Amino acid sequence: MNGTFITLEGIDGAGKSSHVSWISEFLQSQGKEVVSTREPGGTPLSEKLREMLLSDAMDLETETLLMFAARREHLSQVIKPALARGAWVVCDRFTDASFAYQGGGRGLDKSRLTQLEQWIHGDCQPRLTLLFDVPCEVARQRIALANRHLDRFEQEQAQFHDRVRHAYLDRAAAHPERFRVIDGTRTLEEIRVQLEQILTQLQP
Ligand code: TMP
Repeated sequence: MNGTFITLEGIDGAGKSSHVSWISEFLQSQGKEVVSTREPGGTPLSEKLREMLLSDAMDLETETLLMFAARREHLSQVIKPALARGAWVVCDRFTDASFAYQGGGRGLDKSRLTQLEQWIHGDCQPRLTLLFDVPCEVARQRIALANRHLDRFEQEQAQFHDRVRHAYLDRAAAHPERFRVIDGTRTLEEIRVQLEQILTQLQP
């Protein structure tokens, strides 16, 4: 793979989505071809699966398998072709979200997730993962302020999001070679300065 795969992660309300378009524009201004995408989603079929995943109640195993089904489609239709032609792929969430939400949040055995990860994309991992970290109370206040319909994950209790946050931090500690933890409580400007430094260092 000639391209560069970057993923953004964090609990709901951590603020990562506000940075996706900025990161893409920054990389484009450096002359890179950028594919900006998201999970679950990123292809017509995966977006249909997203709608179900965010709204319909389902068994934990079903939820996990649908996340990975959406991912497989996304990888084969969008991510891998883009990386093969040398593009930069900026993806809002990826498999670390399954470890954090289905593993940490809902308690699915990690070994199951590791098996799925190996099966579905053992050969393709992000080069850089930006984890936007904020305390759960801060994230909950932000979501409440947004004053919109909450999806199935956002409606979960504070303890759920606390487990998700800690699962993310454990995953970051286990993979220091690709994770950068961003303190999401700082101002947008402060965060952008740090992002610019990280992305500039990543340039080949
Ligand atoms: P978003 O709101 O950041 O677009 O993400 C949609 C929700 O899907 C978010 O609450 C996290 C959840 N999710 C999982 O539970 N597992 C996964 O593997 C992914 C990619 C997302």
